[in-house]
Amino acid sequence: MLTNLPSRVSVYEVSPRDGLQNESAQVATHAKVRLIEALADAGLRRIEATSFVSPRWVPQMADGTEVCRMLERREGVTYSALVPNARGLERAIEAGVQEVAVFISASETHNRKNVNKTVAQTLAAFEKVIGPGVAAGLRVRGYVSTLWGCPYEGDVDPARGLAIAQQLLDAGCYQVSLGDTIGVGTPVQTGRILDLFLANIASEKIALHLHDTRGTALANVLVGLEAGITTYDAAVAGLGGCPYAPGAAGNLATEDLVYTLHGMGIETGIDLEKLWQAGQVAEAVVGRELPGKVHQAGVRSLAS
Ligand code: HMG
Ligand code: MG
Repeated sequence: MLTNLPSRVSVYEVSPRDGLQNESAQVATHAKVRLIEALADAGLRRIEATSFVSPRWVPQMADGTEVCRMLERREGVTYSALVPNARGLERAIEAGVQEVAVFISASETHNRKNVNKTVAQTLAAFEKVIGPGVAAGLRVRGYVSTLWGCPYEGDVDPARGLAIAQQLLDAGCYQVSLGDTIGVGTPVQTGRILDLFLANIASEKIALHLHDTRGTALANVLVGLEAGITTYDAAVAGLGGCPYAPGAAGNLATEDLVYTLHGMGIETGIDLEKLWQAGQVAEAVVGRELPGKVHQAGVRSLAS
């Protein structure tokens, strides 16, 4: 049992974007920067710092340029930003991020609600983002959302998601992150999705982006590990959601992921104690209790 685990995993931290985009109260720019610096202090090396989407659609991310300008650049830390179109890419380049991420849904209805376009129109719009982004020296990542289920359509055919993922990779994305956007996935389903994807795409080009709405994210990670997936998206203390996916709760908590990986002897390069402290910063920044399990229970089990 569990004999096929990788020795090292890369964690892609999404809380400053996927977490804070969903807060109803506006978080101050300096507080966002404080959170990102705490995450980098904990050893996170890939951080999605903000998004450059329409400020009318997601006002919480309107200060993306200021966030990026205020960040201390650190050797080995890649800051990324979510972008929907050419305007987003332009803003990301001006702000000086090293990486951008495009996003699209496997289901038509969620895609339309999220970006006001069909899947085909979105893929066409990416012609002005992915290739030009790579040509400008950026790394470009792609998200395929609602693969495990859509809040509007229910079941989603994974073959649709695979075809989209292949187009993103062919266009120049270095990795596609497969999204359980509303956290409905269960392990056997994850196994089926990964069997299909891994028969067509190399494992290092695939990441898992699991929301933990129903407490199944870590179980799905275990299936991913056994299948050879070595990149996982997570949000400190379980911040997160999607403003255009009703019912989407927080992402898998980074502390829960790292605690479990370290307990299984899998390296991440992250200091769990400092990560826990970053979770305290996240809670202070949003001014409410956050759901992560390790965040709430603490890192150690012995009373000191
Ligand atoms: P639209 O209204 O159809 O846009 O929105 P448009 O192209 O017609 O432009 C309308 C106006 O917006 C124009 O301004 C544009 O310049 C401006 P006006 O001429 O009226 O003054 N505009 C922009 N401004 C700033 N930055 C931009 C930009 N683009 C246009 N990049 C659009 C289409 C895609 C822009 C909009 O639907 C949008 O911004 N959607 C973003 C929604 C979003 O951020 N959702 C959450 C992230 S996705 C997610 O959370 C899932 C994920 O975590 C993975 C998972 O969990 O599965 C990634
Ligand atoms: Mg998400």
